Amino acid sequence: MCGIIGYNGKGEALPVLVEGLKKMEYRGYDSSGVAVIDNGQIKVVRASGKIKALEDKLKTTPLKGSIGIAHTRWATHGAPTETNAHPHTSYDGKISIVHNGIIENYASLKAKLISEGIEFKSETDTEVVAHLIARYYNGDLKSAVLKALKQIEGTFGLGVVCSDEPNVLIGARRGSPLILGIGNDGDFYLASDVSAIINHTQKVVYLDDNDVVQIKDGGYSIVNMSSHEVQREVQDVEFDADAVAKGGFPHFMLKEIFEQPEVLRNTMRGRLLTAEGNAKLAGLDTNIKELRNINRIIITACGTSYYAGMVGEYMIEDLAGVPVEVEYASEFRYRNPIIKPGTLVIAISQSGETADTLAALREAQQKGATALAICNGVGSTIARTSDGGVYLHAGPEIGVASTKAFTSQVTVLAMIALLLGRQRRLSFETGADIVKDLLELPDLVTETLKLSDSIAEIAKTLCKANNFLYLGRHFCYPVAMEGALKLKEISYIHAEGYPAAEMKHGPIALIDENMPVVVIAPKDSLFDKIISNIREIKARGGKVIAVTTEDCHPLDEIADHIITVPKTRPMLMPILACIPLQLLAYHIAVLRGNDVDQPRNLAKSVTVE
Ligand code: G6P
Repeated sequence: MCGIIGYNGKGEALPVLVEGLKKMEYRGYDSSGVAVIDNGQIKVVRASGKIKALEDKLKTTPLKGSIGIAHTRWATHGAPTETNAHPHTSYDGKISIVHNGIIENYASLKAKLISEGIEFKSETDTEVVAHLIARYYNGDLKSAVLKALKQIEGTFGLGVVCSDEPNVLIGARRGSPLILGIGNDGDFYLASDVSAIINHTQKVVYLDDNDVVQIKDGGYSIVNMSSHEVQREVQDVEFDADAVAKGGFPHFMLKEIFEQPEVLRNTMRGRLLTAEGNAKLAGLDTNIKELRNINRIIITACGTSYYAGMVGEYMIEDLAGVPVEVEYASEFRYRNPIIKPGTLVIAISQSGETADTLAALREAQQKGATALAICNGVGSTIARTSDGGVYLHAGPEIGVASTKAFTSQVTVLAMIALLLGRQRRLSFETGADIVKDLLELPDLVTETLKLSDSIAEIAKTLCKANNFLYLGRHFCYPVAMEGALKLKEISYIHAEGYPAAEMKHGPIALIDENMPVVVIAPKDSLFDKIISNIREIKARGGKVIAVTTEDCHPLDEIADHIITVPKTRPMLMPILACIPLQLLAYHIAVLRGNDVDQPRNLAKSVTVE
């Protein structure tokens, strides 16, 4: 949600900043802007709309200089207009800032600054920070920033420049990610997202909350809010520039769908013990004894990660017999949840930066629970706040609609379920069978992906529909929810997911010849039951698209379209069954002419409440 980039080095800042913005556009894309110190003066260019609009403006207003900041926005306070776009500049024109996050006490700070005669130009919460820094500025930008930040409540990732110190770039963070990139020959970068700077360097420092970094004269130093210098580890990023390029695919989403076989291999690599019928997750080593004694699990997450959590609930209860609840992080954090000794909390987040999930994790820890994380974002806030956890190793996910993160989250949850099961009631034989089936999954995903062209054909017959229903049962009920979410996100078609048997308690009233119903109906113990549900739909004229496995008779006689995926054990079926739904949503969105990778109103990582 929103992207920040900053540069202080020997080259020209503008190309670095614009290229970085493009790499981060998926995080927020309703307006953007850039500020460069050009001949001792801050020059700002901003535009509403996509970064293309900013680039067009920059053609007629080129900015020259080797230090600058830039921002791509997902509006929170104020409409996505040029005036509200970042960077924001102080009343005296000396300080310019870009900001991610929310200044919670901005209204009172704004009122005070107005009473002191300062005129505000935008409706944003960010502008107060620029004015506050200018108020405190007395020849030392770093100490002015520190003083201003002490007045601020809320979250921020900040980049700050000052025309009086044209060799200084300041960054600061609290609750919103910020990374320092260390390039060659005295080139330094600030970014909210590694992908923005990966073309220039793979050496980064993941700043901690309340860190303030000063980049000056070819070096950097980091202090905490009390101005004490702190040391932070320089780390190597585990992916390269290719990982954030489309690699010949028309969209990132399609590339990421097709990456899934490789992603699952990476997620499982070195983590399955064939000879023991078990999983070994290094990130849980320190918690392993405690895991034996837990008697209840709460999984908390948002969006797609929440649906992965629902699959996890079914898997863990099935294999380990430990009761699991899954709760939206936004509800959990404000609900005074009951955490007793023996309760384990697992937060799931692709980005590792989702504000609600982070707050839920902290709330669980506050109440005494051990809180683990399943994250993709290496070095992310959630990963670092948790008491242990498992990385997905899925590589950067750029498409706003999550695909490979979902299948890899479900795979991690399967491994956790296996581990918890083997600590309890699961036999070696069953454990070994599950390991074998997990290891076969990447090849089965490759098989499933061959369906893309035929699904594109089916999409042609469905792309004009206004409503969809998605139905599934047992392990595939969360897949129905996820399939409906995918369609909503990128095609803007209203879609709902339901447990198939619930249909007769309400949604059946919606069914007519205009209502496509996607039914996930693998040949398992509930197959006959779901056939009855499908007959109920057909009896009312509904159109059925069935995702099933081979030998699906009599489904082939009643469904309008059959999509056959390979067979695996029921608990792993969600990983195969969700892929046709990802592809269906993708092809429908393309046919409707939508911006698949950057759907309207959404953002990849929601770092505000
Ligand atoms: C946003 C994204 C979704 C994602 C959700 C949770 O809403 O658009 O695709 O599922 O956040 O994100 P997380 O990074 O915590 O998994």
